[in-house]
Amino acid sequence: MLSGLRRLEYRGYDSAGVAMPVGGVIEWRKRSGKIANLEAEIAARPLPSTNIAIGHTRWATHGAPTDRNSHPHVAGRIAIVHNGIIENHDQLRAELPGDEFSSETDSEVAAHLLRREVEAGKGLTEAVRAVVARLEGAFTLVAVDAADPGRIVAARRNSPLVVGVGDGEYFLASDVAAFIAYTRDAIELGQDQIVELSREGVTVTTFEGAPAETQPFHVDWDLEAAQKQGFDWFMRKEIFEQPKAVADTLLGRLNDKGELTLDELRMSPELLRRVNKIVVVACGTAFYAGLVAKYAIEHWTRIPCEVELASEFRYRDPIIDPMTLVVTISQSGETADTLMAIRHAREQHAKVIAICNTNGATIPRESDAVIYTHAGPEIGVASTKGFTTQLVACYLLGLYLAQVRGMKYGDEIAALLSELERMPEAIQRMLDAKASVYDLAADLVDANSVLFLGRHVGYPSALEGALKLKELAYIHAEGFAAGELKHGPIALISENLPVFVVVPPKGRDQLRDKVISNIAEVRARGARTIVLAEADDEEAGAVAETLIELPKVSTLLQPLVAIIPLQLFACELATVKGHDVDQPRNLAKSVTVE
Ligand code: G6P
Repeated sequence: MLSGLRRLEYRGYDSAGVAMPVGGVIEWRKRSGKIANLEAEIAARPLPSTNIAIGHTRWATHGAPTDRNSHPHVAGRIAIVHNGIIENHDQLRAELPGDEFSSETDSEVAAHLLRREVEAGKGLTEAVRAVVARLEGAFTLVAVDAADPGRIVAARRNSPLVVGVGDGEYFLASDVAAFIAYTRDAIELGQDQIVELSREGVTVTTFEGAPAETQPFHVDWDLEAAQKQGFDWFMRKEIFEQPKAVADTLLGRLNDKGELTLDELRMSPELLRRVNKIVVVACGTAFYAGLVAKYAIEHWTRIPCEVELASEFRYRDPIIDPMTLVVTISQSGETADTLMAIRHAREQHAKVIAICNTNGATIPRESDAVIYTHAGPEIGVASTKGFTTQLVACYLLGLYLAQVRGMKYGDEIAALLSELERMPEAIQRMLDAKASVYDLAADLVDANSVLFLGRHVGYPSALEGALKLKELAYIHAEGFAAGELKHGPIALISENLPVFVVVPPKGRDQLRDKVISNIAEVRARGARTIVLAEADDEEAGAVAETLIELPKVSTLLQPLVAIIPLQLFACELATVKGHDVDQPRNLAKSVTVE
């Protein structure tokens, strides 16, 4: 149980706990903080061994991350763990006068409701069915009953849950990482389904009680892929996996005529030809990949393309219709904001393509079509190979749209496709130059603010570089469009303030000249300039205090290489500062609440 929880810890690490039915009662242990604290508690007060247990690692929403608010929540013979938010918890609590609550969580109310149902004579499955009918919001709810110790019952709505099918054993988890050491065979649960695990097997029903269709699937990565393999952090390992992740994401997508074949994209060319607007919707790092996508898609297809934060999208009543193609980007495929945006888009009859790294996740399942990135499991909370493979998928989509719509850049598309195939090598060159970036990180360890500038696709690269530093090093960092600097942010420039600037490739001279002037402007005000530019770019070199050399690539593809030193820098700086790089404070990898 603890090893499974440890593999889910990246999803939330505010507190952890386990519970099990033993001898007619529930035994439980829980502790705030990381799983190590729970382990210490169990070592001090050992638990009996049982065939059935439930466990949880929490990312706090309602109620501070204290011992009491940790899951599991126990009410009499019932123990539950819950992910999501029960929106009507106050009202439900008010309907339970006399019940003594021991936490401030929204979740505990489910334990009390269940206790009442089983005490009134219902079996656990029927009790769960009765309770979920009263819950509003998002939940994965897993329950055990001390009076029926051979059964686990779980329900899911708007929050992930998969079943692992082992040899004479079963697992339930938010993602397959938890049980990958035991089995790679899994069953995907649908929305509003209840699953019962017992010695007799797995039974899945709808909330109403009808038998439900399930989809078995096989996980195409193994335990080794989910381990650190000698690196100090998952994040660092994932940064170094990027040449392979990018190559894998390109695999099988180019035929020998140099054309793009996106067969997996179950969306007819006729439909793609009719599209008159594209809206890219995503959160966090995936949103920045979406910003790059806008430049590429508009340039190659001439289809207007907007990019919007998923959390803003549906609340502003966006103008979308059946001619709109909504592209959602999500590494986990479970981000609640993005999922809700998809539902809103589909209600307006827009078509939705998901770019996703997780097979069987909710977002691809609820979309019309999917392009999978093949990054393998990303465990470090700050996304790295997730980002670069999302970029690749966005490029492929843009080029494919240009191809099916017969855009006039035939040669350019063929050239770009073969350039994409060379990108793993270019990324590897950036990784090989890690030592100078690590030195820079050690040098700048005391910086309390860092700026990142770029124009065109260098702008989203700057935003992502700043996000990495905020997430990992807890340093104030901001990304700006270099041209916008003079309209305000230049007031922030002071002596020795580190300013990273991404310079466009030579050949885009109009753009590049402007960026070089912007570097001169910050340098003149005493800032420390760290310039990412092509090796033979002498003008950029002249205004750089530190030069990070980029290989020669097309402008639109440059983020794939420019982001590498920014990722390495943030990872190393956080390491030097002694932070937990894989699990930065307050964050979670997969945010399944809105
Ligand atoms: C969380 C993570 C970010 C990530 C974002 C979107 O906030 O901490 O690193 O970029 O979610 O995640 P997704 O899985 O949808 O790409």
